[in-house]
Parts: sequence; C-alpha cells; structure tokens
Amino acid sequence: MGILSKVEQHSETETTVGLDVILFSGRANPQLAAAIARDLDVRVGRCEIDRFADGETSVRLGESVTGRHVVLVQPTAPPVNDHLMELLALADACRRGIAARISAVIPYYGYARSDKRHNELEPIMGRVVADLLQSVGISHLVTMDLHTPQIEGFFRAPVDSLTAMESLCAAMRADLPKDFVVVAPDAGRATLAAQYAQCLGAEVVVLHKRRTREHVETVRIVGDVAGRACVLIDDMISTGGTLAQATAVLLDKGARPGIVIAATHGLFIAPARERLDIEGVKAVYVTDTIASPVAGWPKLRVVPVAPVFAAAVRRYIEGAHRG
Ligand code: R5P
Repeated sequence: MGILSKVEQHSETETTVGLDVILFSGRANPQLAAAIARDLDVRVGRCEIDRFADGETSVRLGESVTGRHVVLVQPTAPPVNDHLMELLALADACRRGIAARISAVIPYYGYARSDKRHNELEPIMGRVVADLLQSVGISHLVTMDLHTPQIEGFFRAPVDSLTAMESLCAAMRADLPKDFVVVAPDAGRATLAAQYAQCLGAEVVVLHKRRTREHVETVRIVGDVAGRACVLIDDMISTGGTLAQATAVLLDKGARPGIVIAATHGLFIAPARERLDIEGVKAVYVTDTIASPVAGWPKLRVVPVAPVFAAAVRRYIEGAHRG
C-alpha cells in the first residue's frame, strides 16, 4: 500500500495525525521526481515555475499544502544557482502555505565540493547552502553520495545520506570480466572504492592526484594494474578531467583496455563526453540523479535510483506518523 493511500485511509477513519503527502518537482529532473512519486504512490502537485524578465525565479504552487507533508525533488545540478533558487522558492512557498513538514530530496547536492577552506580567503559554500535550505523550512534532507560525508553535519535537520553503490554494482556485474580491480582516481575516493571492491569481490588500487586550477595530474599509483581489467569509480563526472587522466595512467601502466567507469552523478560538462569517449573505455555507468546532457551516447548506461530515494522518504514519513 502506498503512503498516500495509507494516509487517506487513516484520515477517512480520523485515526491519524492528519498528515497527507504531496510531491513537487523543480525543473532540474522532473522524470526522476515522477519516478519517485510513482514509487511512493503519491501525486506530483501542480506548480508553475518560470523566470521573470530580469532573470529572477518565479514559483506559484497550484494547490494548497496546508497541513500536508511536502516532498520537494530537485537536484541542484547545472545551472546550479538557478536550480538551487527554484528549490528555495518552492520550500518558502510551502512553509508560508503552512505545510506540516518539508522533505527535500536533493539527489545531487551542488556546492558539496566546497566543504572546507583551502585558504582563509574562501567561503564554505556547502555550509552556506545548508543554512539557506534550513532557513526556508526544510526539515528533512534526502541526498545521495555526498562529496564528503561530513556535509551531513552542516544540517541540524535529519539527513538521509544514501549511496548508489549497490545499484551501480548490480547494474555493472554483467559488464565485468573475471580478473578486475576497482580503482579510486584519488585518495578522497579510497573509502568508496573499498566499498565497491567489497561489493564486487575485487582488490583496490588507489591513484593519487594533484589538482591545480588548470589541470589534474596523477602523481602516484598504489597497487598493480598490469594485465588487469579496471573498474574506475568516482562520486561524480563533471568535466571528465579526473577520470580521463586516471584512464590514461591506467592504460600507461598496462591495464587492459575496456575500462568500465562508474560514478553516481553524471554532470557531463563539456568536454566530458569527448574526454571519455575513447577506445580504452568500454562503458560509463551513472545514475539518473541528474537528467543526462549526453543521453543517447552508446557508452552511457544510466541506472535508475528512484526506488532508493522513495524507500528513504517512506521510512521518514512513516516514522513521522508514529510521532
Ligand atoms: C573530486 O574530488 C571529485 O571526486 C571528482 O573526481 C571531480 O570533482 C570530478 O570533476 P571532473 O570530472 O571535472 O574532473
């Protein structure tokens, strides 16, 4: 039984706390929002989102949210600032419309890479975004493969910090040869690579990279890839620089061509596709957290993750109903 039908049944018999659930989508990934709504068996609410002539964001809900549990779905994917502003406007409209609770499903959390200062003249934008989200009444966050787990600590509100690792492993298995290693493109992904390796029953190799403003450089490799197939993992593909560089190093060290890439968030900012569309790469797996700008690319495999989000939202709402 879906959440809404359960809630409706309760409200008919007047034995519940009186919550019912409605989902609204921003414009970043309406397909994913619709899939989450289907899994939850709730309706996608009507709303109009647009830009005023001067570029400001305009939002108008098409129905009342008073007393309802609202689920907002919006990855803050490129254009990050526009999508973030839409989400803030949606949440503020719900808060002012006296929604009972607001869960924000932010499948990809933009600005997550700004989680600390590299020098004293920089902001920590991951924290600024957390403060903004909470200032407009978001009382629960659901997200996936945050760039660093400590971002969860930027929130006072409860955070469901999910991973796509199992979904990606399940989807990739058929594409993997017998003798392969899982490769982290940098030390920051070593823990994630170890989780993939455990899930897939493989060894881990870690590359160490140095990033300057202009380019990424791999400086050391820990582990042996000679003659072996590789599964190269990451949390995200932005311009593809990190994984293109890692691929080149692996092939140079004698890894077998036919490298399989897996990353949760496929931003594919140009020239990411061109960088990764090379002979040595067999397939690129990403999830549908971000509506793909390179849909139709034969090497691309998109793994759906709506059920993972829906399960987390369901758990939270059922917990909230129990009080
Ligand atoms: C960096 O630490 C991240 O985990 C990714 O490796 C990086 O942000 C990907 O960006 P790009 O695709 O532009 O190299």
